[in-house]
Amino acid sequence: MSPTIIAGNWKMNMTVAEARDLVTAMIPGLEAVVEVVSVVFPPFVALEAIGGLLRSTDVGLGAQNLHYEDKGAFTGEVSASMLAGLCEFVIVGHSERRLVFGESDEAVGRKVEAAQRAGLRPILCVGERLEERESGSAEAVVERQLRWGLANAGSPDGLVVAYEPVWAIGTGRAATPDDAQLMMAHIRATLVSVYDAAAAADVPLLYGGSVTADNVAEFMIQDDVNGALVGGASLVAEGFVELVRNAAAVA
Ligand code: PGA
Repeated sequence: MSPTIIAGNWKMNMTVAEARDLVTAMIPGLEAVVEVVSVVFPPFVALEAIGGLLRSTDVGLGAQNLHYEDKGAFTGEVSASMLAGLCEFVIVGHSERRLVFGESDEAVGRKVEAAQRAGLRPILCVGERLEERESGSAEAVVERQLRWGLANAGSPDGLVVAYEPVWAIGTGRAATPDDAQLMMAHIRATLVSVYDAAAAADVPLLYGGSVTADNVAEFMIQDDVNGALVGGASLVAEGFVELVRNAAAVA
């Protein structure tokens, strides 16, 4: 059985001082929920400070992106080996990276490989755009992204996959729990074909896209949903703690 993971992606929000205040306000509430692994994803510049605050807690830490090369002339980029001493997780292929910054399926695959090589746990994000759902190609798109994302991957140990339909991100329009489960089952089946049944069963699958404290339990009770990747609702301490508590209640 996969452990329940609730990941809070802060995106490009929070100065270092604000990030410190936010995580300090969250720690007691998150630590009280032992059934769930909570992980926060602050901007790069706050990782070290937040890592210090989380050191003696059970709350996990991750980065929002990485570059696939280890070092070199890539101005503004951050490599897996730079992150390895700072955090445990890294989000790879978030739809904002794919759509706003033009990240290709191939680049996402190289990033997953780089993350694993450095001992980081990649959260590989996949998800279709609205036109793709409406034209009936959602499953094919997600499967393509998943297969490219895992093309160079090593062992599935530590791997996490997040299904985030693009039309549900930041829109207040979450997928229905049934639709999320249908896609998760397809993702799980694809993982079985890439690895094997036992390994695929151990990969936590997170749903993301307008998850709130009010709807998280409906997703968590689906057979193949093992957690959530949360954007907007992870930016307020009390709300995020309530969301984690509501997820734990059905975990
Ligand atoms: P949202 O973002 O919860 O604000 O919809 C989710 C995400 O982008 O991971």
